[in-house]
Amino acid sequence: MSINKKISVMVPATSANMGSGFDSIGVALDLWNELTVVSGNFSFNIQGEGEQELPKDESNLVYLGVKSVYDLIGESVPSLTFLCNNKIPFSRGMGSSSAAIVSGLMAGNYISNSKLTDEKIFELAANIEGHADNVAPAIYGGCSIGINDEKNGWIIDKVKIKSKLNAIIFVPDMTLNTDESRMSLHSEISRTDAVFNIGRAALLVNSLSSGNYDLLRFATQDKLHQRQRSKTYRAMPYIIEAAIRGGAYCSYLSGSGSSIIALSDKREYTIGYEMAETARTFGINGKTMVVPISDSGARVKV
Ligand code: HSE
Repeated sequence: MSINKKISVMVPATSANMGSGFDSIGVALDLWNELTVVSGNFSFNIQGEGEQELPKDESNLVYLGVKSVYDLIGESVPSLTFLCNNKIPFSRGMGSSSAAIVSGLMAGNYISNSKLTDEKIFELAANIEGHADNVAPAIYGGCSIGINDEKNGWIIDKVKIKSKLNAIIFVPDMTLNTDESRMSLHSEISRTDAVFNIGRAALLVNSLSSGNYDLLRFATQDKLHQRQRSKTYRAMPYIIEAAIRGGAYCSYLSGSGSSIIALSDKREYTIGYEMAETARTFGINGKTMVVPISDSGARVKV
């Protein structure tokens, strides 16, 4: 099947875990990758983040997303040219992989005229990723919760955030690989640690929706992954502390890192400065970004 017009898909950056919501809760950020697909010889033209590192063949996650749709409908992928304008920091725990998968799925859905629902696209994306904490906010926007029920599959819901919050993101120059980072996590946890996180994840959802943001500092505390990951990322707890000292409501490791995020509605540049200065004392350089939480998720632009 050939396509006569350009199709563009916009997908937001996402920050998974939010501290206590390990593998389950994530938030969309107002920072977007744009994928444009046109009919033509197979090629990938990647501009911006990841342009040196990302594969330009069929192993690219964008292509995997497109192919997943065509596999579902039992057809082969037509010859397509992919143009990726990437703003989401690559391999820094800000959902660049999920954005690639979701953009490919949405482009594939559109050009194949499959009319898959967002729910189906979410299911395909979550099955590729294995957890929903990036793909749910990438598709639905805002703060999304995703769980996998043994009988009913993926179930998602969106938290109504009371009022505008900005994310202050410290993006280190160094990368952390999600698979390697997960290997440092314990396969079993104590009841005490489970209770620690259950209460805080519940508090996280409630404080976001009530607007009682002073509770976020406690609500984003975690015992399931951050402490283990800080063994190889020693600066992390200090950068988190620096953000709180600078006036943030909360701060946590974004996804599996390396980015660290703080949430606030004031003093954003002071908070970013404190985070970057603390990182620098550990020999870690990087950039600081301030972006609002995005209530919108991925969309096709025709
Ligand atoms: N929740 C994942 C992790 C990252 O912490 O390894 C994003 O899915």
